[in-house]
Amino acid sequence: MEINRIGLLTSGGDAPGMNAAIRAVVRTACANKIETLGIRRGYNGLINGDVTELGHRDVKGLNNAGGTILYTARSPEYNTEEGVQKAAKTCKYLGIDAIVCVGGDGTFRGARDLAKLGVPSIGIPATIDNDIACTNYCIGFDTACNTAIEAIDKLRDTMHSHERCSLVEVMGHHAGHLAVYVGIAVGANAILVPERTYDFQSDIADKIRRSRIQGRTHFDIIVAEGVGDIQEIAAHIKEETGLDPRVTILGHIQRGGAPTARDRVTAARMGRHAVETLIAGRYNRVVSIQHGDLQDFDIDEALTMKKGLQETMYDTARILSIG
Ligand code: F6P
Repeated sequence: MEINRIGLLTSGGDAPGMNAAIRAVVRTACANKIETLGIRRGYNGLINGDVTELGHRDVKGLNNAGGTILYTARSPEYNTEEGVQKAAKTCKYLGIDAIVCVGGDGTFRGARDLAKLGVPSIGIPATIDNDIACTNYCIGFDTACNTAIEAIDKLRDTMHSHERCSLVEVMGHHAGHLAVYVGIAVGANAILVPERTYDFQSDIADKIRRSRIQGRTHFDIIVAEGVGDIQEIAAHIKEETGLDPRVTILGHIQRGGAPTARDRVTAARMGRHAVETLIAGRYNRVVSIQHGDLQDFDIDEALTMKKGLQETMYDTARILSIG
């Protein structure tokens, strides 16, 4: 099948670098004389026909812009059979030959449902959680890490002055990749992730006690949001150690900001690969980076793959945090 017009959407939690991916998809399409229809507000846009033509100039200067010019949304209606059928009808009505969807695993499940109704698709992994199993790296992760690191470095100044314990919650509801990378980068005393249960005494209290014996008077603990109630952890630390913990929930600041070089270049590479994969007649794939090389996986296979914590990274964090 010849690809003459593609639909492009962003879906799920936004990520810095999504705009760079949009630019790369549109520019690669233009280079191959393919039209691009931007679909606003994720799969809602497909259901409602909320589209805009995207030409070469419409994506000028996007590389340094966080967020997504196509907006994003989670679409309850698209989770229904009727919703997917409406979306497929929109594609046919608008003459869309294939869909490029930028987002996380929920986005790719949506693409798979569309593919089942005969609309070829390809996914580009973009989520600050970096939890898409078929790829080593997702667009947005590096920028989110650096945003969190910059904030925690600032927190450290005041925690040092007041000799306090800082508990920082980073994003990552089901995945602790952000917490581990940020924890290693800031030299945290302890890192709590949803993939691992923790023992308060050995994983937190004893580490604080050992650091105190080494003469340290301020402490950094990184907690992924999926671990649980960070205020409860703080209260337990206060009760157990007599410290006066301060809690900072970084929240959605981790989802914004100008993308780093890594995210801009990754987005450019993945965006180009996505369009050229469609042109090659390879449909219903998810673009992936494995050890620096671009690949793509069948979407059904990609959605069955599981991604746990990188043991080596988690062990590094643990070993280096031993006071
Ligand atoms: O999936 C990315 C993510 O930022 C998660 O880390 C976080 O738990 C979730 O999105 C927040 O979703 P929302 O923006 O809808 O509050």
